[in-house]
Amino acid sequence: MSLLPRQRYVSIRRRNPIRSDETPRNVGFESERLTARRTHTGTMRLPETQLALLEAASATETKTVTQLAEELGEDPAAVTRAAFELEAEGLLAVEEHVAETVTLTEEGKRYRIEGLPELRLRTAAVEAGADDEPAEMGQLIGAAELDGPEVDIALSNFARKGYGDIDGGAVTLAADPKHDPAADPEAEALDSIADGETGYLDSGILDRLDSRGLVERTETTVRSVTLSEEGVTALMEGVEAAETVGAITPELLTSGEWEDVEFAEYNVEADAETDYGGKEHILRRTANRVKDVLVGMGFQEMEGPHADADFWINDCLFMPQDHPARTHWDRFELDVPPMDELPEGLVDRVEDAHRNGVGPDGDGYHSPWDEEFARAVALRGHTTSLSMRYLSGHAVGELEPPQRYFSVRKVYRNDTLDPTHLLEFFQIEGWVMAEELSVRDLMGTFTEFYEQFGITDLEFKPHYNPYTEPSFELFGKHPETGELIEIGNSGIFREEVLSPLGVECDVMAWGLALERLLMLMYGFEDIRDVHGTLCDLDLLRNVEVVY
Ligand code: PHE
Repeated sequence: MSLLPRQRYVSIRRRNPIRSDETPRNVGFESERLTARRTHTGTMRLPETQLALLEAASATETKTVTQLAEELGEDPAAVTRAAFELEAEGLLAVEEHVAETVTLTEEGKRYRIEGLPELRLRTAAVEAGADDEPAEMGQLIGAAELDGPEVDIALSNFARKGYGDIDGGAVTLAADPKHDPAADPEAEALDSIADGETGYLDSGILDRLDSRGLVERTETTVRSVTLSEEGVTALMEGVEAAETVGAITPELLTSGEWEDVEFAEYNVEADAETDYGGKEHILRRTANRVKDVLVGMGFQEMEGPHADADFWINDCLFMPQDHPARTHWDRFELDVPPMDELPEGLVDRVEDAHRNGVGPDGDGYHSPWDEEFARAVALRGHTTSLSMRYLSGHAVGELEPPQRYFSVRKVYRNDTLDPTHLLEFFQIEGWVMAEELSVRDLMGTFTEFYEQFGITDLEFKPHYNPYTEPSFELFGKHPETGELIEIGNSGIFREEVLSPLGVECDVMAWGLALERLLMLMYGFEDIRDVHGTLCDLDLLRNVEVVY
């Protein structure tokens, strides 16, 4: 008895004379691409493998490629290749079958040895005399040694096959079951499959075994060849082996033999498997370019926590504590202890700015200000929290103008997902500290920055931020849709922000979205194409680097 799977032919289709290209046949380069040639005396010459295959093939008996490969002691892929080359020459006919291989699963193998659960139940019932009197189900289950899920399997299949009735825990055997339990078709099919005799299996039984998880079916393409009339004629006329050289060697060169040998042709058009190596994500690549550009413009990089005190994220920015953006709807508040280490004096000055304002005509918000609320920790909604840490002197000590700082880091917002919004994105934060700054400096900086990415049609729109005055939103035109999309927000920090921080000169600042910059550079329309589980792998693999 053989346990080798045997193939069942489920469909046979003749190959088209014109090749369909569903499966790569010539993988990579190919040293036996050489097809029939003739010597000067008119004798046909074929590469060795092709000749061997031609001689092994028969005009009367169809042989599979696997069979022939074994016979020739050749790699099946090489034989397949040779077969197609010979077919192209009209010397051979290649036929393809989709064959199904059926094998037993572990569970199927076990039932072959132990018996199908429903048959074991039936045997126990026979032994308990259930053909006369109903037998108690629990007792039969015990006697049949059915365990765990096997119990349900036994009961449902027993009933399905009409071996008897199960009623309120009592089992009665049917006087006249649908089929002889000694010749249960499913049990017999398991045996046939194990013996590799699947050719004549009933497809309904096979489907049933499949749905019971007892068999596994796999489809493979089987190719077989027959010699054509032309093939027979060619063999009768005589074919010579053409020895071909696949690669030039130092020996060939020094011996001068290279002048006489026949070189194999490389088929550069052959289908080859695409090999996707690792690649830097365009988002990461663009982030690195942004860094390079900003460093080139004289900026230094800021670093700081993703989870930070609201104090740095909002209070320092003169964001009133009852501002809608500070409600739990918009923040990702973290269930962690509040932040203790905040600079004392700064906390007092920020509180004072909120309550009373800054300067002789400053008014503040007159709204409640709660230190505990300021110390609560959340994921940063912008990296302006880092700018606050740096401008206050807390990060790297007091800074003397002029200064330029940036960061390209993740920020987190409780937004609704749509083509231009995610719950997290990369923000290009930046600021310039100098004695005299104006809106022209801000615009000039953006123009210079975006030009490096080929974006030259920036538009500015007046905007409102609690922390900057004036403020501007930046827009760029989408290369595909022509739509204006918002790419950033900017402004010049107010006194109410700078005075508590102890900064006495001007500071212009911005937060730009890296993903939006990418959309303008690469033209995709949905941010989710490059981010997250729905991302477009083809786009990520094939997108060309824009410089
Ligand atoms: N924090 C702003 C945002 O996230 C960007 C910004 C930073 C605006 C600094 C002005 C000044 O949209």
